Amino acid sequence: MTNINSKTKLIGLLGYPLGHSISPAMQNAAFQSQEINNLYIPIEVKAEDLETVVKAMPKMNFSGFNVTIPYKIEIIKYLDEIDSLAKSIGAVNTVLIEDGKLKGYNTDGIGFLRSFEAGLGLRAEGKKIFILGSGGASRAISMTLAMNKVNKLYICNRTYEKAAALVVDINSQFGNSSIAVPMVYENMAEALKEADIFINTTNVGTYPNADEMSIDKGLLHSNLIVCDVVYNPKKTKLLQEAEKIGCKTLSGLGMLVYQGAQAFEIWTGVEAPVDVMFDATSQ
Ligand code: ATR
Repeated sequence: MTNINSKTKLIGLLGYPLGHSISPAMQNAAFQSQEINNLYIPIEVKAEDLETVVKAMPKMNFSGFNVTIPYKIEIIKYLDEIDSLAKSIGAVNTVLIEDGKLKGYNTDGIGFLRSFEAGLGLRAEGKKIFILGSGGASRAISMTLAMNKVNKLYICNRTYEKAAALVVDINSQFGNSSIAVPMVYENMAEALKEADIFINTTNVGTYPNADEMSIDKGLLHSNLIVCDVVYNPKKTKLLQEAEKIGCKTLSGLGMLVYQGAQAFEIWTGVEAPVDVMFDATSQ
């Protein structure tokens, strides 16, 4: 545990309810390993108290915080500034407090991209990418990929209208690089034939339904790089089936660690000790 004293800076995690989160173990291990006098603490905040809590933080010794469900969108109205990617995504998961001002970022999509590039040693730029799901995780990943000049995004969702709306939003900001795909076998097959990368952004495949997968395994092919945002279990059924046919795969654990690493760097200006953070996820 950090030697807490009058110089200790606090970093919060705001959400409601706060279930088990790996972030405190991951961030505190990182602060300790770099000998940074910061302490990461979960703060469960009811909706009616959010404004009071956020406005008090710059007056105390907080230098930032993470935001989780259900406040990633609502927090924006209390910020002084928002970075351009977080603005495109329309949600904030990381806030830096500097000189009494609050600046919002979203590190989820960058977390995915850094995990992809570090975990696989490949670049996403120029690739054709099929994204399943159109919720918060999909928005963060697809906007980040669009901003990082991928060739094409196929966005497929159970509720087609949500995929179509996300596509309009992406194309209005980054050019006509994305296409909505109905969640119908033939349409998915046609798009997947062209795709280099498949990303599951739905929570299908996590416990207690770890034997489920979000896509018919007949749609996978060996040239696809198959990525999951689910990290519990680390190797989902989707990744197991993909490996069986020879695909390169990427677990969601890396995205979890790298979104935290990116936040750590925003708060401290110090390169994140990614290995230490990975180790903390298995404690
Ligand atoms: P998150 O913030 O984790 O992205 P979310 O915003 O609730 O969570 O989004 C969940 C996504 O998973 C949605 O795209 C959802 O599809 P719908 O828009 O049709 O609801 C998708 N999803 C959830 N359960 C699913 C299932 N059983 N099959 C297919 N898609 C599913």
